Amino acid sequence: MAEILFKGGRLIDPASGVDTTSDVLVSGGRVIEVGSNLSSNGAETIDISGAVICPGFIDLHVHLREPGREDEETVATGSAAAARGGFTAVGAMPNTDPVCDNAAVADKVAAAARLAGMCEVIPAGALTKGLEGKYITPVGEMVTCSAGVRMFTDDGKGVQDSRILRRAMEYIKGFDAICAEHCDDAALSEGGQMHEGYYSDMLGLKGMPAAAEDIALARDLVLARLTGVRYHALHVSTKGSVELIRQAKAQGVRVTAEVTPHHLILTDSELQSFDPVNKVNPPLRSSSDVEACRVGLADGTLDAIATDHAPHSREEKESEFELAPPGMVGLETALALMITEIVDPGILTLAELVRRLTSVPAGILRLAGQGGPVAEGGVANLTVFDPAAEWLIDPETFVSKSRNTPFKGRTVRGRVLHTVFGGNLVVRNGEISPDYHAALSVGTSLGAQQ
Ligand code: DOR
Repeated sequence: MAEILFKGGRLIDPASGVDTTSDVLVSGGRVIEVGSNLSSNGAETIDISGAVICPGFIDLHVHLREPGREDEETVATGSAAAARGGFTAVGAMPNTDPVCDNAAVADKVAAAARLAGMCEVIPAGALTKGLEGKYITPVGEMVTCSAGVRMFTDDGKGVQDSRILRRAMEYIKGFDAICAEHCDDAALSEGGQMHEGYYSDMLGLKGMPAAAEDIALARDLVLARLTGVRYHALHVSTKGSVELIRQAKAQGVRVTAEVTPHHLILTDSELQSFDPVNKVNPPLRSSSDVEACRVGLADGTLDAIATDHAPHSREEKESEFELAPPGMVGLETALALMITEIVDPGILTLAELVRRLTSVPAGILRLAGQGGPVAEGGVANLTVFDPAAEWLIDPETFVSKSRNTPFKGRTVRGRVLHTVFGGNLVVRNGEISPDYHAALSVGTSLGAQQ
């Protein structure tokens, strides 16, 4: 295992409130020393002056497509994309094939992640069997299996039946796990291709009203209060949702929320291109929704930034709009987009952005060894990034198997230089270290790179 001395970086460690120039010495998978003027004692020294060193990022919401759609992503390639984006832990959504609605699938995903060794993958379990909204899954076996499932969701759709959701919440609460919802009243959004509003009228595409999200969230918050479960709102996208969460938090409901980079940056006007790369669920919303999400992120109503990394094959994303699946990849662009669009305009400070990507999501998932503090004896899960480096988003350079980003061709600021997972340098100088290329080729054996 590598012995590395990171020298001269700005250590931002939200868990301990540290934001200062500091050296960090890593050895045997642990942080050995943090301080100034550390000597290497034979460790490889990497000069990171001008860069930030912080706990590895945590993404609460990704789709890794394994099992079932290994042509789009595998646990290994998704882990590599995560590492390249500076993430050392990701929560993998259960809408795989078969669905992650039992301990066997959860354990398989976690085992594949351990084999790849590039980042921690915490599978989320389905709330209902087969994501069908009818029968509650064996929550207990998933919580206690070796994968250690701690979040349950039917992401991709919301649970429509309030009685089932109430019972699921009660069951989940018994294990002190999280009930997370893709808030959507399916009767209102059925058949929708984009946000309902001016542009859906103009384009003649069926809309999904913001009310479909607001109503589902309002119902969920009532049930969360009733049951006392820890509730997490996935990919919040509407002004109404931000207001509902703000009120619920003020009233003491145990609610946390995430927002994606695309819902913080893009509006439904993008859909004018008719390019399905902009199709996502929840859909890109109006400018007033985007503004409300930015305000909600700034004031803490929205706790964490999560990518909803949703890889799709080129063939499917290039089919006609109505047939193309919703979703965008996000792991390899999240940091730069957030620095460029959220930190540079002054919505969050850089240190606060780091907090929303590290200790905040670690706290939500109650992850040990992730999210800091960066202190002697702690597991070495670290990210080093240059906040000023400019680069052009070129999907052809992604290590993810999929290329479906709406941010292609944008010039952004902020680049991940090194990612340390469990003491190993998984990403060196922005690229996956050669030690992991074998794991990646195993991961890609079921489908050619597109
Ligand atoms: O756009 C989306 N894509 N939203 C979801 O909720 C699911 C995801 C996917 O799995 O592709």
